[in-house]
Amino acid sequence: MKIAIGSDHAGFRLKETIKNSIAGVEFVDAGAHSEESTDYPDHIGALSRLVQRGEADRGIGICGTGIGASITANKFSGIRAALCTNVFMAEMSRRHNDANVLILGARVTEESEAVAITRTWIETPFEGGRHQRRLDKIAAIECGG
Ligand code: RB5
Repeated sequence: MKIAIGSDHAGFRLKETIKNSIAGVEFVDAGAHSEESTDYPDHIGALSRLVQRGEADRGIGICGTGIGASITANKFSGIRAALCTNVFMAEMSRRHNDANVLILGARVTEESEAVAITRTWIETPFEGGRHQRRLDKIAAIECGG
């Protein structure tokens, strides 16, 4: 699986930890590349575009709270970004919402918990069925419906 990953300065350390902790994934790093102050829309926008264009299978976005990253990623049509603060949310975001971008808040979630969230999110499949109907309704709203 190819995952586009990006953060601002607040999420930089957690981004590096995730890249070094998860095996069997090809990460495409959309920055930031240090803890120097930067703007989350730049990096979250870049990774969202990679997922939107099919150049990455999924994305992971990280900022301090995860809120700015969520707002940014969900502006892109076809992106279903889920801010997850525990493993249950990560599992449900895949099973029910087919989330294609995972959002983490580096200032609200411990590193070890964030890695566990990420593993669960990568491994959990979408259930389809009635959940697909609901995603179709979201897509229709996205198209102005
Ligand atoms: C950066 O200080 C902080 O505002 C950002 O990481 C994020 O939490 C925004 O939602």
